[in-house]
Amino acid sequence: MKLWIKTFSKTAARLLSTGVFIGCISGNGIAASKNKRQKHQLSRRSTYQALLDSVTTGKDSTKFHIINETTKVPLLAEVYGIEGNIFRLKINEETPLKPRYEVPDVLTIKPSTVRLISCSGDAGSLVLADGKGDLKCHITANPFKIDLVSEEEIVMSINSLDQLYFEHLQIPLKQRSTKENKEDTSIDASQEDQEDLGLWEEKFGKFVDVKVNGPASIGLDFSLHGFEHLYGIPQHAESHQLKNTSDGDAYRLYNLDVYGYKIHDKMGIYGSVPYLLAHKLGRTLGIFWLNASETLVEINTEPAVKYTLTQMGPVAAKQKIRCRTDVHWMSESGIIDVFLLTGPTPSDIFKQYSYLTGTQAMPPLFSLGYHQCRWNYEDEQDVKAVDAGFDEHDIPYDVMWLDIEHTEGKRYFTWDKKRFPNPKRMQELLRSKKRKLVVISDPHIKIDPDYSVYSKAKEQGFFVRNHEGGDFEGVCWPGLSSYLDFTNPKVREWYSGLFTFSAYQGSTDILYIWNDMNEPSVFRGPELTMQKNAVHHGNWEHRELHNIYGFYQHMATAEGLIQRSEGKERPFVLTRSFFAGSQKYGAVWTGDNTAEWSYLKISIPMLLTLSITGISFCGADVGGFIGNPEAELLVRWYQAGAYQPFFRGHATMKTKRREPWLFGEEYTRLIREAIRQRYALLPYWYFLFYCAHVAAEPVMRPLWIEFPEELDTFGVEDEYMLGSALLVHPVTEPKATTVDVFLPGSNEVWYDSKTFAHWEGACTVKIPVALDTIPVFQRGGSIVPIKTTIGKSTGYMSDSPYGLRVALSTKGSAMGEFYLDDGHSFQYLHQKQFLHRKFSFLAGVLINSCADKRGHYPTKCVVEQIFIQGLKKQPSSVTTHSSDGKEEPVAFTYCAKMSTLRLEKLSLNIGTDWEVHIR
Ligand code: NOJ
Repeated sequence: MKLWIKTFSKTAARLLSTGVFIGCISGNGIAASKNKRQKHQLSRRSTYQALLDSVTTGKDSTKFHIINETTKVPLLAEVYGIEGNIFRLKINEETPLKPRYEVPDVLTIKPSTVRLISCSGDAGSLVLADGKGDLKCHITANPFKIDLVSEEEIVMSINSLDQLYFEHLQIPLKQRSTKENKEDTSIDASQEDQEDLGLWEEKFGKFVDVKVNGPASIGLDFSLHGFEHLYGIPQHAESHQLKNTSDGDAYRLYNLDVYGYKIHDKMGIYGSVPYLLAHKLGRTLGIFWLNASETLVEINTEPAVKYTLTQMGPVAAKQKIRCRTDVHWMSESGIIDVFLLTGPTPSDIFKQYSYLTGTQAMPPLFSLGYHQCRWNYEDEQDVKAVDAGFDEHDIPYDVMWLDIEHTEGKRYFTWDKKRFPNPKRMQELLRSKKRKLVVISDPHIKIDPDYSVYSKAKEQGFFVRNHEGGDFEGVCWPGLSSYLDFTNPKVREWYSGLFTFSAYQGSTDILYIWNDMNEPSVFRGPELTMQKNAVHHGNWEHRELHNIYGFYQHMATAEGLIQRSEGKERPFVLTRSFFAGSQKYGAVWTGDNTAEWSYLKISIPMLLTLSITGISFCGADVGGFIGNPEAELLVRWYQAGAYQPFFRGHATMKTKRREPWLFGEEYTRLIREAIRQRYALLPYWYFLFYCAHVAAEPVMRPLWIEFPEELDTFGVEDEYMLGSALLVHPVTEPKATTVDVFLPGSNEVWYDSKTFAHWEGACTVKIPVALDTIPVFQRGGSIVPIKTTIGKSTGYMSDSPYGLRVALSTKGSAMGEFYLDDGHSFQYLHQKQFLHRKFSFLAGVLINSCADKRGHYPTKCVVEQIFIQGLKKQPSSVTTHSSDGKEEPVAFTYCAKMSTLRLEKLSLNIGTDWEVHIR
């Protein structure tokens, strides 16, 4: 079954790229059929023309008609200028037979528009400028094309390759009874052809997908001038930099449950964010294609070429044609609704995208600790023993996880009474260690009239329906199940209510949630998912919104956890399926990976791609879900995971147990050390998440984000930055004795976090690695806050002291920040109960000052250690100065060989103003 699915998908996507026509093998995707239509269309060379005499300019948008020469079906185009240098282009049928699906609930607010001014332009063109006038849309009438111009340079062209494609909804020939409707057939002589091609009815095994109003796909091309580096459109087990698809598969966005997914594959897996970024020296752009149906993206990069112009004199003999990347988006249905994010910098792009879809939810602090999962921890005894194991081996951890077997026959919100007779007692044990519990809750609901979640949902009509009008039924873990229709706000409200403590028997306030199988996964369904003609709230077919189904479950779950605390506590919800904007609801992981080195390696680009498309809180199963990692791989995975945002060990059923202490003392020590490094850095992680939350800065960053003007960084994906201060290069090869680390930036200096050795930037260094080496480098010019003592879990560390790691720049200065709040509530937001401090080091003086005066959060915590790297001269004295003028001498240790200065036994309150003078 699985093999067949993969074969289908690959074949379909490849067909699309190569243009080979095939018969109706697929049945259930646009991939093959879209290709057929594409061929059909292109062979007719029909183009679109904008009717610029129809232009109307409203408060929000400029509208005009576009018409296809062949079908003559009018389309309505709307161009919006949106606050923050964003353009939006919407194209829909002028008068569709019935409304076409427009994705709701993703945009956080109705974006504020800026009035576009129409300037110049002759009869054949129209120029729209935003208020400031440096960004312009040049619209050409015939053939229809839009050029996005910034400072007189065309940065992007739309439809310059004539790939605008819009299949209008049709009344089936058989139903056209009236004369008028019969006449309609003249506008589309192709319907019979389409039927012959099988586009009205496709087969996938035993499934028949009838398209009531015929094929409805849409497509559009974008040419990015001067760009050859593109990123984004997760989720694929692929490189960070998007590949040219001209001789291979197109990137597919279709949320699917793919156990042990193949790597370096363009097949869609669990989630989709239809958003890509393009970067070149001096500019970053973004294209956000707001469509939730099955989508394909083709990418074709044309390298720069040098022409020799023989006719001309020797001076002008050579002309360089800029490189260009063409991106072709195609979706099965819906409308064209695309946002053009114009940057120009990577951080502008992050702000623009977050303005549309929201920022990362601020996670509760515990969720940045280490999570211990397994399918399954068998019973309460098992949980108790594993929990104790961490303490016995002095390994910190924060969260115990229970998979599907904890329930009564996979009925979510229940407990298996034999295995977990007293769930509250078990949670009290965890609470006593300041730890939490996460349990799973999937979207499929076992069909069982005695199961109250099922019977109540059934009674209220809360399930997705099949096209005959009954409840959709499909097989998943519990056997025959129905699927909650989370697209219905009433269903979401009801589902959220299931998390209240009274409704969810056995739950307490330390219990959090994991949403799995929400692509949705339907065993024995086409491609292991739901039929496209299943019906949702509002009568929308599943095909319209497939990719956003999981997003809605995540939303309802997060809302449920907030509600059960009466709005006070931050939720933690992990989801497998996601869409643009899922960051607002919690964390995402990369699903069922395999315990092989190649999967450890691919986790880095996969997480980088999620991170730059808004989803900062992401991680991969540490150790690999499927199979048994050897001890060395497990250690390397813990070391990598400790430096990735969501840090959870997980393993499938029937794999050997692999808790950190089961591989012998030496390996236990290595894993303990990796996890301890994670806990030491928690203040820095927390600050980075605060930045992601308030300023949309990714936590885990590809090098090109931090060094957008350094070409050498654009293709790097075996290392990354955490924030702007730490560069991490996880070891992903077996028996490695060295790794080649690229240290970017010609004006930079980098310090090895372990040996304190330093290098100037813009070079690759060979770093010797032993099994205990995690190659981490601190950027000169940064200050990183750490915890100096590690507890059993984050809860034990709230009062423990801090240290500051100061790494001086080539100019001898450094900066850093620190953020603190209660770690769990919304008081930071509603009551401004937070502390945001700034550290700066200049001319031998380290200053702690307030970074945000709006916040108040008194703390007793002190900075007890300061470690400075890159201090060239031995100081003669070090003194601390408090804001009341008190001066105290400090004992210090200086190492001339390494140029480091260590100050210990300090007692400087982290939340107050003070200075340290080094003379
Ligand atoms: C699939 C998930 O990807 C995996 O993490 C989980 O353990 C199983 N479902 C069982 O719930």
